[in-house]
Amino acid sequence: MFTVKNDFRLSDSRDTLVVGMFEKTTAFEGLLGEVNAALGEVLADLIKEGDVSAKKGTISNVHTLGKLDTKRIVFVGLGKEGDYSFETARSVFGKLCKAANKAKYTTIDIVLDSFVTEKVDSLDVAHALGEAAPLATYKFADYKQKSNEPEKLLSTVNVFASTEAEEVEAGLTVGFAYGTGTNSARTLVNTPSNMLTATDMANYAVELAGRLELEYEVLEKEEMEKLGMGALLAVNKGSVEPPKMIVLKYQGKDEWTDVIGLVGKGITYDSGGYSIKPKDGLVGMKSDMGGAAAVLGAMEIIGTLKPEQNVVAVIPATDNMISGEAFKPDDVITSMSGKTIEILNTDAEGRLALADAVTYAKHHGANYLVDVATLTGGVIIALGNKITGAMTNDEALFEKVLEASNEVGEMIWRLPITDYVKERVRKSDVADMNNSPGRDGHAIFAGAFIGEFVDQTPWVHLDIAGTATTSSAYDLGPAGATGVMARTLAVLVERFGEEA
Ligand code: BES
Ligand code: MN
Ligand code: ZN
Repeated sequence: MFTVKNDFRLSDSRDTLVVGMFEKTTAFEGLLGEVNAALGEVLADLIKEGDVSAKKGTISNVHTLGKLDTKRIVFVGLGKEGDYSFETARSVFGKLCKAANKAKYTTIDIVLDSFVTEKVDSLDVAHALGEAAPLATYKFADYKQKSNEPEKLLSTVNVFASTEAEEVEAGLTVGFAYGTGTNSARTLVNTPSNMLTATDMANYAVELAGRLELEYEVLEKEEMEKLGMGALLAVNKGSVEPPKMIVLKYQGKDEWTDVIGLVGKGITYDSGGYSIKPKDGLVGMKSDMGGAAAVLGAMEIIGTLKPEQNVVAVIPATDNMISGEAFKPDDVITSMSGKTIEILNTDAEGRLALADAVTYAKHHGANYLVDVATLTGGVIIALGNKITGAMTNDEALFEKVLEASNEVGEMIWRLPITDYVKERVRKSDVADMNNSPGRDGHAIFAGAFIGEFVDQTPWVHLDIAGTATTSSAYDLGPAGATGVMARTLAVLVERFGEEA
């Protein structure tokens, strides 16, 4: 997609030139001065008339009417220079790539220096562009019968920079890894559940492992039975699809110590089971493996960038279905940890699958745990569709996750686990705990339930039920799956060993 070049000349022949522009530029200096002169000193007028704007995020296409060998110039508004940041660069590049696709510009030439400031250097700008381009132009390959005409999409971005090409290339490569790993997560979530069973997800993970030289393990039902994974097996009982416990390992240190465990809910379809969802609640439940997708997307980024950190990814994969064999409310099941669970609601299945997954991640040496799950409708009521709910038993680990999420622009907000919450989870006449203490505050009961299996290990829980999908397009993506938390997890791993 990208080619880095050093020899920029305005006089060269090209279709589309992209130039960044800050607000309150009174005298046009440098490139803008050259462009202004070539266009016959009209830039100030164009701005005054509103045909060109430097307001943050505005994209102005100006035809040069033969005054230059450049057909058109796209001015990208960057806002006030004082407010400009890495995030601004990433979001305006997202807007730019979307606008380029809409206008069917297949090739664009970007002058990188026009986006560089004292605060945001060329490495940052290249990273922002490398990440934004794949994210903003992502499109799920749907199943519509296609017309024969291929779509004209942005495919070539020539990046002109005055700094060293290697540095710019490094920034683009890192950003691109973040963008494409997130897009893989999106595709997994967007894929219907009849085309993405637990077996399909395991095959995908094994293929990924082969491509990135990761170690892997896929547990079959018989092995789960031997290991006593009664919680995951209970969820799978009503299904004709076999369950899979998927493990990927990335070793970035000599010794297998200091291991971060990433655990992702992989319910390929959630019917609710006998506590069946109402018909409107069923629509969209193919996305109930959004946590698994985030973990797989993060492993793709990690496997590409190869940071010095150990990571084990664990994904409990199954659908939650109904049959004569399905588990039922009133059943009591025994988890891998030995804790028994009274089932009060078969639709509270995610926490069951995750209970065994967390236990298994510890079995594989995880010293820290982060679980990601489309766990509760309650978190959507509490925090809406843009903010992921977080819970923790460890302040320091939570701070690290929060910093990572801030860096990539994925908001998280913490919810509490108090003694009262634990009491509600542990209340049962017949078992050690129950899987559904009630509708009131059920997001925190669900998170606290997982915490019971984590025990003393530092842990952060991320409930992405509201954020895994979106009903409307945004700067860095279309409507549908967002791939949320893939980048946060990857940044967490990359930065983990660094001093605060
Ligand atoms: N997968 C759902 C949560 C969900 C809801 C995700 C909406 C995305 C959108 C989860 O398994 C579930 O069914 N949770 C129940 C919990 C209840 C039974 C305590 C819920 O949210 O109603
Ligand atoms: Mn459910
Ligand atoms: Zn679910």
